[in-house]
Amino acid sequence: MVEDDATDAELIKHALRKDGLIFTTARVETSEDFIEAIEADSPDVILSDYALPSFDGYTALSIAQKQCPDVPFIFVTGTMGEEVAIETLKNGATDYVLKLRLARLAPAVLRALRENKERAERKRAVEQLRQSHEQLRALSVYLQHVREEERMRISRAVHDELGQALTGLKIDLSWLTSRLPKQMGPLINKTREMSSHIDETIQTVRRISTELRPGILDHLGLVAAIEWQANEMQTRTGIQCKVSNSLDHTILEEELNTVFFRIFQETLTNVIRHANATRVDVHLKEDEGRLILEVKDNGRGITKEQMSNVKSIGLLGMRERAALLGGEINFIGVPRKGTKVVVSIPLPIPNRTNQRHNHENSPRRRSRSSSPWLKADSGR
Ligand SMILES: Nc1ncnc2c1ncn2[C@@H]1O[C@H](COP(=O)(O)OP(=O)(O)OP(=O)(O)O)[C@@H](O)[C@H]1O
Ligand SMILES: [Mg+2]
Repeated sequence: MVEDDATDAELIKHALRKDGLIFTTARVETSEDFIEAIEADSPDVILSDYALPSFDGYTALSIAQKQCPDVPFIFVTGTMGEEVAIETLKNGATDYVLKLRLARLAPAVLRALRENKERAERKRAVEQLRQSHEQLRALSVYLQHVREEERMRISRAVHDELGQALTGLKIDLSWLTSRLPKQMGPLINKTREMSSHIDETIQTVRRISTELRPGILDHLGLVAAIEWQANEMQTRTGIQCKVSNSLDHTILEEELNTVFFRIFQETLTNVIRHANATRVDVHLKEDEGRLILEVKDNGRGITKEQMSNVKSIGLLGMRERAALLGGEINFIGVPRKGTKVVVSIPLPIPNRTNQRHNHENSPRRRSRSSSPWLKADSGR
């Protein structure tokens, strides 16, 4: 309580007690005592006179705003013009009560405390929401990462181990065939059938391994992988898919390649499923330290509603993937003209140097933690 008049202080306390409030007070008259009191006692409410002989309510308010902005500050004064009152409220005072109307004081204090509590709860809820959003993001980053690692591991295992086992089988079979006597025609025919069966299985193994994660992405880089995928889709669906590229170096950064490649795959899947297009143009370029992928189809055009629909999980996934590396993705749809998807992600600094076929720098040879993003992610 900032109050120089002891009688007024008693009247104020009496008014509060009369309305059933239980409290303790510390009365101060100077700026030093005020600062000391708010530091020592961390009050629940500050009641302040406006004009004091050696101190003034305005200064008290600005000190309180700095030291304890969350504590309600109520002016309790003999006189206060309307303009002054409005001014103090603007400057952060919670309320003002005239000493002639002390009956208003207890309700004002109670309301201030209640509002303060509600504000604190809201703040806590917002903070909790922010935290859980951050955790969800981190979880999504982690899941993408784990999923990709898993795909890579299975893809290699399938390719190497099954591939080798089948090749071994084929060699054994041809050894057996060559030793079968010429007159055992039916057996020789059977081994030939078996051999072509093994060939088909080898093809299947390759296809499964490639679908899990195309080796081309890790060995020849992003552009080659995108060209390969475009070609695959053209062969499979008959939709023309042209890739142009104005990059002057091979991108071999694993995280970046994965993100671009998976977004590209998702985009092509959408074109096949929804666009009713006959042609897709893909362009890769670098602009102001960002890698940019544009995929344009000549289909029916995505609508604003589809873009912002919460059920568009595919689009959300693409956005999350791009955000993972500090990038962004934009969708532009023109009815009956088509859809353009633009992915833009900042390149990590070391990658801007020429890396053409520089296998020493291949990301697979570097430890994952050397990726500038894995470090950046933890801070996001
Ligand atoms: N290239 C496109 N042309 C026209 N419409 C599109 C295109 N891409 C997406 N859309 C529209 O946007 C919607 C949302 O796409 P999104 O990828 O999020 O979902 P989806 O493909 O329907 O399902 P999934 O979760 O399997 O990807 C689609 O249902 C489709 O209506
Ligand atoms: Mg989709």
